[in-house]
Amino acid sequence: MKIAITGGAGFIGANFVYYILEKYPEYDVICIDALTYAGNMETLESALADRRFVFRKADIADRTAICEIFEEHRPDVVVNFAAESHVDRSIENPELFLRTNILGTQVLLDACNKYSVKRFHQVSTDEVYGDLPLDRPDLMFTEERPLHASSPYSASKAGADLLVQAYYRTYGTPVTISRCSNNYGPFQFPEKLIPLMISNAMKNKPLPVYGKGENVRDWLYVEDHCTAIDLIIHKGRPGEVYNIGGNNERTNLEVVRTIVRILGRSENLITFVKDRPGHDLRYAIDASKIRKEMGWEPRTGFEEGLKRTIEWYISNQQWIEHVTSGEYQGYYARMYENR
Ligand code: NAD
Ligand code: DAU
Repeated sequence: MKIAITGGAGFIGANFVYYILEKYPEYDVICIDALTYAGNMETLESALADRRFVFRKADIADRTAICEIFEEHRPDVVVNFAAESHVDRSIENPELFLRTNILGTQVLLDACNKYSVKRFHQVSTDEVYGDLPLDRPDLMFTEERPLHASSPYSASKAGADLLVQAYYRTYGTPVTISRCSNNYGPFQFPEKLIPLMISNAMKNKPLPVYGKGENVRDWLYVEDHCTAIDLIIHKGRPGEVYNIGGNNERTNLEVVRTIVRILGRSENLITFVKDRPGHDLRYAIDASKIRKEMGWEPRTGFEEGLKRTIEWYISNQQWIEHVTSGEYQGYYARMYENR
């Protein structure tokens, strides 16, 4: 079996590369990644030592490059993680998000049809459902919920989901889609809440919490996302959407306070800053479909996952230094100075 993993030099994609190489000694992995600011070869260092692993630098929206890679490697399964993934950046530059997340997905779907790929799996997000009110804890996202995106990022992911479903209906492309809640764990770029707070707290820098810190996210340890995708590509029914969630809702302030406590820092570092425009209030995933059909359950508790993640960042400070040395400095200044 040959699996093409796009976006494998990024956070979840890289965790999935390592997960597959370890779990399936008979599988070959072709990683396709454009190496944007979010993709790092250092993250794939150990994978590159494995003879079953091949890396190709390519943009998923580049039809010629993608077809050449498919022609050469003939993947059986394609798992698409490649995306512009950060909401704040989508507010600065929506166009790039439409190009990569929608047109890139279309190129991959066309290549799957051309080379008779047996399964195309689209890694989507719970953000395509929009948000839920803070005062209705009874409400959750099910797969039937209409799409209702709030940011250019989530709109681009919703657009891609619609395209994937249209390819299933029109061309019979064997597709599946997963919509997952917020992930955390090793190799996450320190623009996202948890690694940004860990990285700043380690240096005793201010911890910028948007608004009042009352927005709620449902946190899932990245390895649990990998086990869910593994099940879907092997057992999921073509044409279906599967929600994946941690059943672990926390306010942002709770998350930041927990990080501060585990690291033994002062809560005085917490700084409330101007809110994100269009900021989604609450995400909550109903993952009963994948649980009933495939027996999937998240295994890692939040406190345990957060401790493991913090230990990873403490032991890999060189990785943080390298990924934040270039473009990140300008981004951080634009996003947080004078906010
Ligand atoms: P990430 O930003 O860490 O990594 C994205 C990767 O895609 C990077 O390696 C980058 O170089 C690559 N990439 C970007 N544009 C590309 C292009 N045009 N061609 C080829 N490669 C390109 O993202 P992540 O957090 O690992 O998210 C992976 C996927 O999972 C995304 O599709 C995202 O929408 C989805 N998702 C993320 C989360 C989360 O909490 N992080 C939750 C649910 C779903
Ligand atoms: O729900 C899945 C989504 O989760 C994925 O599709 C996205 O790719 C991923 O980036 C993530 O989106 P969020 O916007 O929820 O994640 P982020 O880490 O950017 O922010 C989490 C919450 O923390 C959100 O309410 C905004 C807040 N926040 C974030 C940052 C970076 C802060 O308060 N301060 C910050 O500095």
